[in-house]
Amino acid sequence: NAAPLIDPFARPITYLRVSVTDRCDFRCVYCMAEHMQFLPKADLLTLEELERLCGTFVDLGVRKLRITGGEPLVRRNIMSFFRAMSRHLGQGLDELTLTTNGSQLGRYAGELADCGIRRVNVSLDTLDPEKFAAITRWGRLPQVLDGIRAAQAAGLRVKINAVALKGVNDAELFDLVRWCGDQGHDLTFIEVMPMGDLGNEDRLDQYWPLSDLRARLAERFTLTPLAERTGGPARYVRLQETGQKIGFITPLTHNFCESCNRVRLTCTGELFMCLGQEDMADLRGPLRASSDDGFLKDAIRAAIAKKPKGHDFDYSRQTVAGQMTRHMSHTGG
Ligand code: GTP
Ligand code: 5AD
Ligand code: SF4
Repeated sequence: NAAPLIDPFARPITYLRVSVTDRCDFRCVYCMAEHMQFLPKADLLTLEELERLCGTFVDLGVRKLRITGGEPLVRRNIMSFFRAMSRHLGQGLDELTLTTNGSQLGRYAGELADCGIRRVNVSLDTLDPEKFAAITRWGRLPQVLDGIRAAQAAGLRVKINAVALKGVNDAELFDLVRWCGDQGHDLTFIEVMPMGDLGNEDRLDQYWPLSDLRARLAERFTLTPLAERTGGPARYVRLQETGQKIGFITPLTHNFCESCNRVRLTCTGELFMCLGQEDMADLRGPLRASSDDGFLKDAIRAAIAKKPKGHDFDYSRQTVAGQMTRHMSHTGG
């Protein structure tokens, strides 16, 4: 049972993303519907069950664990989970981290740092309070900025994730870059993916290819591509003039599935093998059926053996293809 996890396309699976709750205190338009039906609390795995599952993945060779949601920091007692996970650091696990909307960082940054977390990814698409409120439907920008400051004060590195949205944050590109440079944050741009309820909003209208964004950056800065990676899908450049690192996550303009190293666990114990496909395996059944981890490991291996090649997202024919009805919040991106 000690062999590492390898998928059918010879990709080693070493990165587990864990969505610990489907709830969030914001409702970002590209991530959730305005009126989300949340899972009944009774369906959730307990934190102890999630701990056992994650520990089993670490046994199977997972080296990077990213906690997501929904918003991970709104789950009750979540710090006990981080503390439990931190015991794997240096014992197979190289990195424990999270992706957050930042709203609760003011409260938790210190404890997160105490758990061995070194950096956090904070989702922030705009520095304009009104636009921020419109994107998140009711989020308050100052609360997030306070959270980011608290993270920095606790010694955490902050990477800002900005979804590139034409007509929304394109006019702010250089403001975002300058602000991140001034604050010492890395910044990663993400192409908007067709997930969830696409009802009213039009992804094609808002889609801003990062090839365009990059060309605009290159008009003002000298971009030096970096070979270094963080284990996620981003490719990075350095802006020579300011020394800043800028990342690009490009599922649409440059598919990165070939080097995929990750799977996603939800708070009910579903294992999604690919963000852009429906394929999933239930781990709650095997988890609860036996206290024998061997049984669970077999279920995980069987699931990984069915990991699909990649997503089918495509906007190139002036229409949205490969879209998923599943909301991004279900698996945490
Ligand atoms: P780093 O450790 O900093 O590299 O983080 P990360 O990019 O792995 O994670 P993060 O949670 O910051 O994700 C940023 C964006 O990348 C989100 O929009 C995710 O949905 C997207 N993303 C992460 N992994 C995948 C993937 O496997 N496929 C696709 N299509 N998008 C992904
Ligand atoms: N397309 C691209 N990125 C998305 N995120 C949420 N929904 C989408 C989407 N439809 C981002 C969030 C967060 C990360 C986990 O995923 O902004 O930074
Ligand atoms: Fe991996 Fe699927 Fe994401 Fe492609 S879309 S990088 S295969 S999870």
